[in-house]
Amino acid sequence: MNFKVRVVLKNDPYTIIIGPDVLETLPSQIRSLGLGKDALIISHPLIERLYGVKLSAALRKAGYSVKTLTVPEGEKSKSAAYALRLLKQISAYDVDKKLFIIALGGGVIGDLAGFVASIYKRGVPYIQVPTTLLAQIDSSIGGKTAIDLETGKNLVGAFYQPKLVLADTGVLKTLSQRQIRNGLAEAVKYGIIGDVKLFNFIEANHQKLNGPGPWNSRDQVRSKVLNFIVRRCAQIKAGIVSKDEKETKNLRTVLNFGHTVGHAVEAAGRYDQYHHGESVGLGMRVAARISVDMGLLAKAQELRINELITSVGLPERIVDVRLARILELMRHDKKFTAGHNRFVLARKIGQVTVVKDIPANIITQAILAYMN
Ligand SMILES: NC(=O)c1ccc[n+]([C@@H]2O[C@H](COP(=O)([O-])OP(=O)(O)OC[C@H]3O[C@@H](n4cnc5c(N)ncnc54)[C@H](O)[C@@H]3O)[C@@H](O)[C@H]2O)c1
Ligand SMILES: [Zn+2]
Repeated sequence: MNFKVRVVLKNDPYTIIIGPDVLETLPSQIRSLGLGKDALIISHPLIERLYGVKLSAALRKAGYSVKTLTVPEGEKSKSAAYALRLLKQISAYDVDKKLFIIALGGGVIGDLAGFVASIYKRGVPYIQVPTTLLAQIDSSIGGKTAIDLETGKNLVGAFYQPKLVLADTGVLKTLSQRQIRNGLAEAVKYGIIGDVKLFNFIEANHQKLNGPGPWNSRDQVRSKVLNFIVRRCAQIKAGIVSKDEKETKNLRTVLNFGHTVGHAVEAAGRYDQYHHGESVGLGMRVAARISVDMGLLAKAQELRINELITSVGLPERIVDVRLARILELMRHDKKFTAGHNRFVLARKIGQVTVVKDIPANIITQAILAYMN
């Protein structure tokens, strides 16, 4: 029943385990990895209550010591202040211990806890236990850890691979519909960058995920759709990361489709107006428009991309954000260097390319097309 995906890296290979009840297997997985005896869970209070308490009990039963530290929900916790607070709390606790960190939560926890793991004592082992759809299909895989600065997202961080990723699709049942849509944005991205079949699958099945939560864990239809999406996206991401661990080739760059404008919109909205996936949905609309204007993508394909983003329920327009602010924030994008811009653009659904030096007016017009 459980599905395994291997991230094949020269120095730090690891496995992603996906399935409806894999959380229960965490203590035995840790044992087989030969990590330390002292688990330090980093989470949010809500996730701690929903899943952390049970996980801690299982770990203690298996002979581990467990300490849990929490940070408030939201992107604002992915900050230098919270990273430093965690580091101080960890070091105060770390006496005669052999610590390993468990990141239990969505992308915010994964990025923050991974970053803390990467710098505490120059690196302690950590495990990703992603609890949002977005984190299961994207942020927990590939070892990108980060905190944000005022000037932009993810500007401080490290490549630091986890020892294991445990994606329990059963925990997705307590997510809000907004969080599901947020994750679906990244799933649509995977379809566009490399898998038209996945795109077709989302088109055909995403409506089955609608409806009030929390879901019943026996809800087989939803469970099947989510399991398929998580497995396929994890395979795609693992495949790309295995070929280009540190984004030194254009391979890993394609994962940024929709993110250049998306990150800027997210930052311009101060990280609370739009969730990450929502901004990426808007960024994908803009990227598709630029692709059309650059003569790469057929208009009909752009329409199909936009229709799916809309029918998934993601925002259609960029509101209450100034164009000048978006353009200014975009200049902090990692892909922009020495006055040159670089965008991931679509040739068709399932195939993208990296393009340099796009005329500024094409970018501006494409953003304006989605502004009020
Ligand atoms: N490192 C990477 O490669 C990478 C890739 C994509 C995104 N990211 C980052 O991920 C972050 C966004 O992650 P996110 O969308 O998971 O947001 P998030 O971590 O803020 O989680 C969203 C909300 O869902 C709640 N939640 C989490 N799991 C839950 C569950 N099972 N049941 C009920 N509620 C639950 C959380 O408490 C939170 O309030 C951004 O900071 C983004 O930059 C990183
Ligand atoms: Zn993303």
